[in-house]
Amino acid sequence: MTRVSAPETRVLVSGATGRMGRRVIEEAAARDDVRVVAGVSRDLSGEISGIPVEPAGEFGVVLAEYDPDVLVDFSVPEASREFVADCAEANVACVVGTTGFEADEFAEDEFAEGGEAALREASEQVPVLHASNFSRGIQALLRAVEGAVRDLPGYDVEITESHHRHKRDAPSGTANAILDRIESAGEFGGRVHGREGESLRESGEIGVHARRAGGIRGEHELLLANEHEELRLTHRAGSRAVFADGALDAAVWLAGRGAGRYDFSEVVAE
Ligand SMILES: NC(=O)c1ccc[n+]([C@@H]2O[C@H](COP(=O)([O-])OP(=O)(O)OC[C@H]3O[C@@H](n4cnc5c(N)ncnc54)[C@H](OP(=O)(O)O)[C@@H]3O)[C@@H](O)[C@H]2O)c1
Repeated sequence: MTRVSAPETRVLVSGATGRMGRRVIEEAAARDDVRVVAGVSRDLSGEISGIPVEPAGEFGVVLAEYDPDVLVDFSVPEASREFVADCAEANVACVVGTTGFEADEFAEDEFAEGGEAALREASEQVPVLHASNFSRGIQALLRAVEGAVRDLPGYDVEITESHHRHKRDAPSGTANAILDRIESAGEFGGRVHGREGESLRESGEIGVHARRAGGIRGEHELLLANEHEELRLTHRAGSRAVFADGALDAAVWLAGRGAGRYDFSEVVAE
């Protein structure tokens, strides 16, 4: 991709009627480095906060009509993969916040990496940045996790995440990212999701607990403990604005870059 980044990055939002899509549109309105040119929805045609919303079923036509620099997608994996494939054909960069790729039906695809085959394929043609969490605090947490696990070998490790009652995937994409960091930083015996019955905790196992209640925006806690001390690293998202702004920062950063997979940590580092 050779497009030169414009002063204002032109963004198309998929999942526009969702909790995150709406927030992306709202946050973009307060910034001067991005402009949402349109959203797409399966059902709604009309406007959200003055932004035109077009039919998701005509995504290719919408791309041609609005000529965005970047897609910002917060939808569902089965829709996201279609949007991203169309963007690859239309030479549009992709910022994907959708989670749950690992759990969906295409996860067993022989070319898949964590169920993200469509993202990987698209990244051969356009820049693609997928993050399960666009909060800068979570980026800091991920770095802290590695250090804590290295410094505390042999400590028991448990993760608890809490989200609103509408969240589909469990554990959260962020919990999975934390788990990957833990496992890359130490020797562990496997993940145990929830517990019931009478068996004792094995040393080396990583306990994973997912809670779903009310309107919780997102909480992740890593607990490391031995017989004598406890360390807790906790992140709480106070508002979806933090994810929306992070995704928009990623969109501005990604516009005009070459094809490939990029990571949100690169955006934060700059
Ligand atoms: N990376 C991050 O920082 C971050 C932060 C928060 C949430 N997320 C993730 O972002 C995703 C969306 O979260 P949310 O809370 O905004 O969910 P949501 O409120 O349910 O919104 C999802 C939107 O996707 C669209 N959609 C659903 N199924 C579709 C389909 N089959 N085809 C086309 N569009 C479809 C729907 O819009 P229409 O019905 O109008 O088409 C819906 O409004 C989830 O995967 C969530 O885990 C990521």
